[in-house]
Amino acid sequence: MKPEIVLVGPLMDSVMEELDRAYIIHRLYEAENVAQLIADIGLRIRAVATDGALGADRPLLERLPNLEIVSIFGVGLDAIDLDYTRARRVAVTNTPDVLTDDVADLALLLMLASARRQIVADKFVREGRWGKQVLPLAARFSGKRVGIVGLGRVGKAVAQRCLAFGCHIAFLDPYAKSDAGFVQYAALTDMAANVDFLVVTAAGGESTGKIVNRKVMNALGPEGTLINVSRGSIVDEDALVSALAEGSLGGAGLDVFAHEPHVPSALLGMDNVVLSPHRASATVETRRAMGALLLANLEAHFSGKDLISGVY
Ligand code: 8YV
Repeated sequence: MKPEIVLVGPLMDSVMEELDRAYIIHRLYEAENVAQLIADIGLRIRAVATDGALGADRPLLERLPNLEIVSIFGVGLDAIDLDYTRARRVAVTNTPDVLTDDVADLALLLMLASARRQIVADKFVREGRWGKQVLPLAARFSGKRVGIVGLGRVGKAVAQRCLAFGCHIAFLDPYAKSDAGFVQYAALTDMAANVDFLVVTAAGGESTGKIVNRKVMNALGPEGTLINVSRGSIVDEDALVSALAEGSLGGAGLDVFAHEPHVPSALLGMDNVVLSPHRASATVETRRAMGALLLANLEAHFSGKDLISGVY
């Protein structure tokens, strides 16, 4: 008998096809009445598969008394109640490492596009203004000061990339030490006051909620740029809109937002903001690798083998 799995949201086609081949899949996002579906199948469900940004809330997991594993397509764990899953001895897996390079690459892309005003330049050409108007000078990226909020896998990969551009690296992370000569800060506002780019790579969740607040933005200042490739929840988004509108923050490069897919309308009109629809891991190579890891974790679990990327 194939194990029965709840799929919280759609995943890439190749992963869905494999899930359908190996398991009995119940698509929560297609249910007309989710509560009724869970009431009908809850006892039979042994696993949940979900996207990193979507997660699986505790009310859902509580209705799955025979749940054994939650397999996450993504690295972020902030949408899963790990205290609850750990207490219930439900395994949780995610897809670290395979997406690190892509996320770090996008952080660099957002920094370079922000510094060199590349989106504005592209629009300038497309609108036929070249030869008719003069585009203002942009700013050099190489050699600038970069402050990394969270020196985990992605933060370290961003730092390595920035070193190749001759940048000076600072970081804030209570759990990490660096032997690469990076300047470590204990206070986010202090670091923001001493860098040109503040790059958010920390994990989302309660402990990092809105830590990038108006005071931090003011410290980063009118020449500073905020980059976020982690979670929108880490930034006070209302404060960000105000700081950008008032000119007390120079610019932003954002791949994530507080209430995706909603993006504050004020940001849409700002040419000092580079916007991206949560695409940091969205390459063919990385999503294939993430899908393979999600499937491999489920296969390992149901065949009694060690998990490939168990969270605890
Ligand atoms: C996911 C993410 O990769 O890895 C994460 O936690 O934030 C996301 O980029 C994405 O949601 C996959 O669809």
